[in-house]
Amino acid sequence: VVAAGSGERFGDRKQYQRIGGRRMIDWSLATASDFSAGVVLVVPADRATDDESNADAVVAGGSSRSASVRAGLDAVPAQATHVVVHDAARPVPHPDVWRAVMDALGAGAEAVVPVVPVTDTLREVDGTTVDRSRFVAVQTPQGFRADVLRKAHAADVEATDDAALAEAVGATVTCVPGSASNIKITTPADLILAEALCR
Ligand code: C5P
Repeated sequence: VVAAGSGERFGDRKQYQRIGGRRMIDWSLATASDFSAGVVLVVPADRATDDESNADAVVAGGSSRSASVRAGLDAVPAQATHVVVHDAARPVPHPDVWRAVMDALGAGAEAVVPVVPVTDTLREVDGTTVDRSRFVAVQTPQGFRADVLRKAHAADVEATDDAALAEAVGATVTCVPGSASNIKITTPADLILAEALCR
């Protein structure tokens, strides 16, 4: 569970904000625990000594999301066969999405991402219109064969998600249905929606 962001767009460390009486990270830790043999929580460096009873390990993140994933991956035991990476910024529990990711991994997928249709009309910034039916929005949790994720992160590479890095080292990415309510908290207004969804 990567939670080492600085919350620049949010204006605060959103991962420690409360939603329905629990901190945002606790929602993701609970869901991750239900589906995993162990959970590594990646936090800002000054919170790495916090006692987090819901995580098996707590490590300091890096200056980018990809660096934080690498820090978390270093704490995953070598014998782990699969690793799921989840953004703490998506706190609303979605066991259906986790199950779909796990099932695809169980069926032999190398890399799995949940996707949803794009609902807004899209334009390129230079003004060109695009056909939105050709696009999907990609969410987390994203699941990987452990060797594939380790290879993807073997160098100091950067991307906004891990599937792109896995693809760059030759992995095939499998898409499963995500959920429109698996929202990513970006602004304070998103917290209001998350409160309602978590309830
Ligand atoms: O910045 P963004 O919204 O893409 O962050 C997605 C997730 O990655 C969040 O859960 C955030 O806490 C995490 N992150 C991180 N380390 C960073 C930047 C983001 O763990 N340096």
